[in-house]
Amino acid sequence: MLRLLLFVTAWLSLVLAEHKGKVYKFPEGFRWSTATASYQIEGAWNEDGRGLSIWDKFVRKPGKIIDNSTGDVSSDSYHKFREDIQLISDMGLKEYRFSFSWSRIFADGTPNSLNPAGVLYYHEVLDELISHGITPVVTLFHWDLPQGLQDRGGWLNRDVVDWYLDYAKFCFHEFGHKVQYWITHNEPIIHSTYGHCGLWGEHAPGGLKEHCDWAPYVVGHHMLLAHAYAYRYYHGTRGLGKGKVGITNHVLFPIAESQDDEKVRDLVLDFSLHWFNHPIFKRDYPDKMKAWLAYLSKKEGRSASRLPEFTPHELDLLSGSADFLGLNYYISMIVRTSSKPEVNMFGMDAPAKLWLSKKWMPVGREHSWIRSHPQGLEGLLDIIREEYDNPEVLITENGCMDTPGESLEDVTRIRYLGGHIAAVSKAISRGSKVAGYTLWSLIDNFEWADGYTNLFGVHQVDFDSPNKTRTPKKSSKFYADVVRNNALTW
Ligand code: NOJ
Repeated sequence: MLRLLLFVTAWLSLVLAEHKGKVYKFPEGFRWSTATASYQIEGAWNEDGRGLSIWDKFVRKPGKIIDNSTGDVSSDSYHKFREDIQLISDMGLKEYRFSFSWSRIFADGTPNSLNPAGVLYYHEVLDELISHGITPVVTLFHWDLPQGLQDRGGWLNRDVVDWYLDYAKFCFHEFGHKVQYWITHNEPIIHSTYGHCGLWGEHAPGGLKEHCDWAPYVVGHHMLLAHAYAYRYYHGTRGLGKGKVGITNHVLFPIAESQDDEKVRDLVLDFSLHWFNHPIFKRDYPDKMKAWLAYLSKKEGRSASRLPEFTPHELDLLSGSADFLGLNYYISMIVRTSSKPEVNMFGMDAPAKLWLSKKWMPVGREHSWIRSHPQGLEGLLDIIREEYDNPEVLITENGCMDTPGESLEDVTRIRYLGGHIAAVSKAISRGSKVAGYTLWSLIDNFEWADGYTNLFGVHQVDFDSPNKTRTPKKSSKFYADVVRNNALTW
């Protein structure tokens, strides 16, 4: 009996220690939001004049998607967007981040192939949002490049900067009066590495192993330039420029295993946080990354570094080219120096080993790529505040996949979200200028190479039902409470 009592007391104190009931109040006007992306939710892959994107082709290659699925129909948001917007509204949200499918607007990627039905669709989505008092945040590129442009070299071809600019200009002019917040790219780091190297996760368009040492850097370089030109166009053109333009970067937080690993941790941080932020906030690629890639290139007998260089004019364009920094945060990783350089998730050939600590709360199936470490988000916000002169930050994604066995009672997701929302509040109290928090994702959807095996929605989608029925999970109610109170009790 005594044993049982001791056990219960110990268990209770553990639970209470985690949920101290502390109230984290958010500043007035804090922007609560949720997010999706076109290829992941829309379906209707060949309807109403939409052209093919690189994902339409990639999902048809055998073995690329773990469950052999596609985004052909997915959550069918193309037809069900009004219902989805109602879900957003039901959670009390006043903001929604989603992306345009480039090939729904320009079927082959160029203005010659303008698709009026696609343009009309996005007008309808925007109008529906606005009529519900929801502010749209539009991502222009969330990885679904038109296949027509891929056939001409895609992001590896320098001309892509002009193709992207044509597309961005069109969107700014066509939708500018309805959209106040624009995000040029979603996670260029993942698109350049997973999409063009593939030694870790593989994404469309898919890359050759032999290209891992240079292709991601060339793609990333062109993505940064495309971003800068679009930003300058928006702010330099009469009639536009009334809203804000930013970029969304995926950042993992590296933690040195011991003091001896700090040097290599700093190198990993250059690849993880600084690669796509330094050119914008500090005028060029980060020093340690540049030096490391120059060293490797020299060793390989190359005449130039694997990492391309910006011209002085391009540096001028890039420098200061974001009104806010969009941050997608999911995980931290422990870093240990390793004597053998290896291609890791950033294709960087670094002398580093990275892994998820067993001490962090597991999420999803066994060996999933997420474990919960909210302190990493705080750590990143601290670095951004201190090293980038405290820019406005928008958390553009944070969330996790379902944990098996929980179904609609997704308590693990609630713990994950609560921990991270509290972390944002702590960073704000230390002075970080975080304007808002965006939960990934509104509804279950096609999770890239993981197909439908990892579901991130706070609303379940019954993919087997003809109607793709949506049902709220417990986490949607949890999030709605936070939004209503503009505070988290945790
Ligand atoms: C980031 C990506 O932007 C999004 O498309 C993806 O579904 C989530 N991470 C979860 O992996």
